[in-house]
Amino acid sequence: MSKKRFVARWGTDFLAALLLAAAFASGTIACAQTEDQAWLRYAGGHQRSTIPASVRALGSGMLEQSAVQELQRGIAAMTGATAANAGETVVGSLDEVRADFPGLAVPEHIAAHGFWLKRTMWHGQPLVIVAGSNEHGALFGAFGLLRRIATGTDISHLNAIEAPAMPIRWVDEWDNLDGSITRGYDGRSIFFEGGKVRDNLSEATAYARLLASVGINGCNVNNVNDAAPFLEPSMIKGLARIADAMRPWGVRLAISVDIASPQKVGGLKTFDPLDQDVKAWWTAKVNEIYQQIPDFAGVTVKADSEGQPGPASYGRSPADAANVLANALAPHGGVVLYRAFVYNNHLDYNDPKADRARAAADIFHPLDGQFAPNVIIQIKYGPIDFQAEEPVSPLFAGLHKTSEAMELQITQEYLGQQRHLVYLAPLWKEKLDFDLRAEDRSTPVKEIIEGKTLDWPLGGIVGVSCVGRDGWLGAPLAMANLYAFGRLAWDPNLTPEQIAAEWTKQTISTKPEVVATVDKMLMRSWPTYVHYTGFLGTQTLTDITGSHYGPNIEASERNGWGQWHRDDAEGIGMDRSVATGTGYAGQYPPALAKIYESVATTPEDELLFFHHMPWTYKLHSGKTLIQYVYDIHYQGAKEAAHLGEDWATLKGKIDPQLYEDERARLEYQAGHAIVWRDAIVQYFFKESGIPDALGRARHYPGRLEAEDARLNGYKVIDVTPWEDASGGKIVACDPNSAQETCTAEWTYTGHAGRFDVAVQYFDLRDGVAHFTLGINGMEIISWAADAKLPSSHAGDSSTRFTARGPDGRGIDLKPGDVLRVEGTPDGKDLAALDYIEIDSAE
Ligand code: GCU
Repeated sequence: MSKKRFVARWGTDFLAALLLAAAFASGTIACAQTEDQAWLRYAGGHQRSTIPASVRALGSGMLEQSAVQELQRGIAAMTGATAANAGETVVGSLDEVRADFPGLAVPEHIAAHGFWLKRTMWHGQPLVIVAGSNEHGALFGAFGLLRRIATGTDISHLNAIEAPAMPIRWVDEWDNLDGSITRGYDGRSIFFEGGKVRDNLSEATAYARLLASVGINGCNVNNVNDAAPFLEPSMIKGLARIADAMRPWGVRLAISVDIASPQKVGGLKTFDPLDQDVKAWWTAKVNEIYQQIPDFAGVTVKADSEGQPGPASYGRSPADAANVLANALAPHGGVVLYRAFVYNNHLDYNDPKADRARAAADIFHPLDGQFAPNVIIQIKYGPIDFQAEEPVSPLFAGLHKTSEAMELQITQEYLGQQRHLVYLAPLWKEKLDFDLRAEDRSTPVKEIIEGKTLDWPLGGIVGVSCVGRDGWLGAPLAMANLYAFGRLAWDPNLTPEQIAAEWTKQTISTKPEVVATVDKMLMRSWPTYVHYTGFLGTQTLTDITGSHYGPNIEASERNGWGQWHRDDAEGIGMDRSVATGTGYAGQYPPALAKIYESVATTPEDELLFFHHMPWTYKLHSGKTLIQYVYDIHYQGAKEAAHLGEDWATLKGKIDPQLYEDERARLEYQAGHAIVWRDAIVQYFFKESGIPDALGRARHYPGRLEAEDARLNGYKVIDVTPWEDASGGKIVACDPNSAQETCTAEWTYTGHAGRFDVAVQYFDLRDGVAHFTLGINGMEIISWAADAKLPSSHAGDSSTRFTARGPDGRGIDLKPGDVLRVEGTPDGKDLAALDYIEIDSAE
């Protein structure tokens, strides 16, 4: 528990803010796990007169009943009307509407899962019709109507038809049987705990409602790794309960399966997909599932990838494996989503032709035409792995006789893990709109996965979501990503701006100035993150062999994982050209292959993904590559700080708890952006030996390094990776010392004035160290290092705490003042300290 205790001369507002920040850091302001915190708030004040509050289902199906319930709840909450206004709102299928309202002009046909919303008069009374092509459509229509009301759309002349762009609109959860969630960043599984399905599945139902509200129709509930136990008979019973919990909202259950299950679960000697006993085992297992879950959606497969077993063990292909499952599922209408994320993670770094980016197309392109009709190849948007910036996978253009789905990641594994604000819709939209020029014509990726381009029956989008029990994604603004995922899966032609505005109006406020500010922040957040975490196609320069969170530039080099950027004293980038590199550029259709082959035509933001360039290479702006690295990271850190400044303008205009929660998050993000900036700048300065023309690299005015302080109890140590600390060195309390606290002291030699004092320390997972900042023997403030960061060693746990004085106006300092940080270690958290930085507050 964090206690910020010392107030000295400072006012109570400041103390209150600190207490809130402390509560945030320690998680005491727990977001209740209810759907209310998401976009289904149905805040009041809307169009009382235009929507009849009397709602009736025309049929008796379960989804129509859910739609009616939702409409009653939403209309009552938003319009304040519980008793019947004049007229009625009806929910049904097109056929039901025709039968109940003879003579009314009803659309002939609407595509699967689509709906028609109409406001008209019937026998002199207002009538609002929510008509689906089927029950699902009616449910989606109900949410479509409520969204219109909640976002302030004029519905007085409502007459709209919508249908989803693609049939597969799934989320994948990477939940494990023990209740943990791989790449989940807050809270435990809503489905599993202690090796079995949870007794209480109310959150699963609430989640399904949230998913249905944006048109998602499938949910795969378990991790792609370690999936075998989910096929044990007792587990199938539990899975059936999850399916029951989600069914009222039309969300069908899917699971990940381990291709070795016939051996691991069934006890067979083999899992060779062409073995007759293996085929029979899968058929029987799939039948067992459908007996208990008649609307089971299908399975997802990760095979021959990152240690998962696969058909390669028997010299069989992904098509052999996928088809065995597909044949078992076909009679029941189920599908196989076979992931194209198949690659060798023991590549030879010294082989200039080795290239992980090639793997998916190399493996799957030759199999085109061999997959059963109910197999869909699930392809990550880029050829590597959910990076903040990477090109579109060429495999999207490489399968002409096979259905495809695009795999996106809603949980922010490589994009700040929900501790950084990154609105992903602009990234996704860029990939969806990208024109791959397959068959030498316009073929945007969205049209390929919709099945339009090559006339496939199936196709879609899958989002790896990983929600948990602690506020779904664990950060209120990160929920815009779950919302945006569903909206883009429904209609990839929506713009990220439109979606942001819809989400903000439903979630935070309909006040125009609030909507404008939040949307500006959301829209800027992804470029901002890209600007401080990598550059021009290097991918996210994070700790890829560890937490995937903070900076660790060498983690992607000299190992078998193949996320290389190949930097050296001369330059950086992977040569993926056909002429001199790995040949990856040649996997694109000819028009694009030509563009990527040459440095001159490769878009600059992807330059280093395709080419190895010298540090002195002049970019279009005239800047050298190395100067760009310096500039863009300083710019990115500034942009991160601007996010917080924008948010500050919302004080008093939005819910105070949300305001304070996000304020603290953005302050942390701005500090971490400085860590990223400094890590990348000092790393490539050292590597290239070329100074920053603006003199910023490794020169930090106002920074007082801990290793230069008068130390008592602290020891100077080298940090790993070295770039995560200013100058590579930090101080940490000596674990062998009997001393309870350690201190670092500096004498201030600058001019007199008011200053913000930032303390850069390392907040480790295992233990809660405490810090105190004092001036001239007087304690100014103390705080606990109790944030939930991924690291168990000083490195990407680097955190900045800024003391801004009373009312944020700075702390008085004059030459000769003694600044002192006192650290109290706890367990393995040795109260490690990097530096303090004194910045003018005037
Ligand atoms: C990433 C992620 C893994 C995951 C894998 C996948 O590499 O870090 O946890 O299993 O993607 O997509 O299967």
